[in-house]
Order: sequence, then structure tokens, then C-alpha cells
Amino acid sequence: MTYEPKSVEDAAALLRAGKLCAFPTETVYGLGADATDADAVLSIYETKGRPRFNPLIIHCADLAMAETIAEFSPFARRVAALWPGSVTLVLPAKAGNGLADVATAGLDTVAIRIPDHPIALALIAAVGRPLAAPSANPSGRLSPTTAYQVRLGFAGKVPVLDGGPCQAGVESTIIRVEGERLVQLRAGAVARKEIERLLGVPVEVAEKDAAIAAPGMLASHYAPNALMRLDAEPVAGEAYLAFGRVQEFAGVTRNLSPGGDLHEAARNLFSMLHELDAAGARVIAVAPIPEWGLGEAINDRLARAAAPRG
Ligand code: TXA
Ligand code: MG
Repeated sequence: MTYEPKSVEDAAALLRAGKLCAFPTETVYGLGADATDADAVLSIYETKGRPRFNPLIIHCADLAMAETIAEFSPFARRVAALWPGSVTLVLPAKAGNGLADVATAGLDTVAIRIPDHPIALALIAAVGRPLAAPSANPSGRLSPTTAYQVRLGFAGKVPVLDGGPCQAGVESTIIRVEGERLVQLRAGAVARKEIERLLGVPVEVAEKDAAIAAPGMLASHYAPNALMRLDAEPVAGEAYLAFGRVQEFAGVTRNLSPGGDLHEAARNLFSMLHELDAAGARVIAVAPIPEWGLGEAINDRLARAAAPRG
């Protein structure tokens, strides 16, 4: 049996000793390591089976910690008012910031966020160093929103600090700060329009080949075991991932949000895909999801889950 940390202090002790520990955030569970410890960060890549060219998000406890690893212009500081929260900012890395090169895949930028979750914040503060943490799932699989899903994904081999289910349910929105421009590299838990409203600054959308800008944006990602059909009505023998008011269906069904609420749908997305997988579904028909608000992030994850597997 893997040793399970029972408290923030237990988990911090593991991380300070160069071990991995999964921990809750408001978006999804992260697979954490001390971002200044190259060996610890390397074991993230090994454990996930993650390509080395795919840099990690660095989680900080507060702005003071973030300022030790990245350069903040006055404009970037304004944008950082979104923290703590489900937005990751890509900023120029600070020289000599102490981060392991493998954490940033040798880029001269760094992706940072301050999570809006009391356990995550207490943990980073207790470790006293920034934590590298990708979603706590084997590379290419569904992201976990409960400690149970983390244990399942890694067959119980990774210690998990259990903080209950994640509130947002999809990963953070990734925004690159370029001078005074904001470019969204990944749609996520905070809708683009919401960021524009909060900051009063337009948010551009990166070109489709932002795969290069955010190397993690591989086409096939977030894959359940089942095949997926999007914008579809289910037929006999399929499972159904519904949204809003839908017709009765006799097969295994989960409804992301019967009331048509996109926040609720985002929160349920990965867990319901996990459940349909666990129910043995071979094909999942997915109802159409509107593209506004958080629909952008939900449709992005669904498109990746449905993409041909490499
Ligand atoms: O909500 C989240 O963001 C979760 C929780 C645990 O915080 N983390 C997460 O990490 O989703 P991960 O590793 O699954 O996704 C990190 C993404 C990848 O697409 C990666 O390519 C991109 O961030 N990224 C990291 N550093 C970057 C950089 N310097 N420039 C552009 N993209 C970067
Ligand atoms: Mg991930």
C-alpha cells in the first residue's frame, strides 16, 4: 500500500523529501513535485508517461513567490489580480529562478498559477517552494477531479492528499502575457469573456497551431477508453452524455447539467466520462454543448477526447 498523507504537513514532508504527492486544486487534482528539484520533476514525467517537451505549470502560494520565478511588468501585475484562481499566466522566466530546467522544458517562459484552494495554498506554503503540477492522470487520459480517480489512474502507486471533489472540474485557462496583449493558449475553467470583463482587456485566441505555443495541446488528449461521437443523438448500445433537457434514452446516461448550466457541466465533465468508462461503455454519444462561456473549454476537451488516438 502506498503511504497516504493524512494532513497538509504529511504531504509537505513528502514533497520536501523530493517525492511526488497528488493534491487537490479547485480545477483538477495535480501531481505535485518540488519545482526546484530536477529529480522530483523528472519523476512526474516518468509517472505520467508524459513527453519531456511538454512543460509544467508552476503553482505558487502567493504573488511574492510568483515574483521570484517570473518577470512581472506593471501590466502583468494587473492581470495577476485574477489570482488566486483558475487562470495560468505564461510570463518571461526570471534568470536564476532556481526552477529545474525540466519543469519548464528549457523554455524562457514559465506558466504560473496561484490556485484558489485552501489545501493547495497551505501545502505550497508549507513546502516553501513552488510546486510543479500537471493534472494527476497518466498522459493522454482523463483528468481527475477526485482523489479516488487519481488512485485509479496510477493504480494506487502515487500518494494523494484527499481534499474532496474539485469545484471547477476542468483545467485552468492558460493566458500568455505578451507586452500588453493577452493570448489564450488553452480554454479553461474561467471563460475568456469573463477574463475580459474582470480586466477590461481583450483576450485574443491563439492560432490553431498553438500546439507549439502550449506544447501540451496534443490533439488526442483526455481520452476515455470509450470512443466518442460528438453532437450526437445516442443509438441503442451506446452510452449517452447528455446536456440540458433531452429525450429519454434507455442506455446508460449521465446528464452534465439537466438545467443547462455550463459551470455545473464543466464540474461534471471528467467525472461523468470516468463513470461512463467504468460502466463499460464502448461508444459515448455526446449531446451538443453551446460554445459560449465555459462551453468553449468543455467543447475543447470533448474534441480532444474524440480525436483519433495516436
Ligand atoms: O488546472 C490546471 O491547470 C491543472 C492543475 C493541476 O493546476 N494543471 C494542468 O497542468 O492542467 P497540465 O500539465 O496538464 O497542463 C499544462 C499546460 C500544458 O498544455 C503545457 O504545454 C502548458 O501548460 N505550458 C506549460 N508551460 C508553458 C509555457 N512556458 N508556455 C506555454 N505553455 C505552457
Ligand atoms: Mg493534463
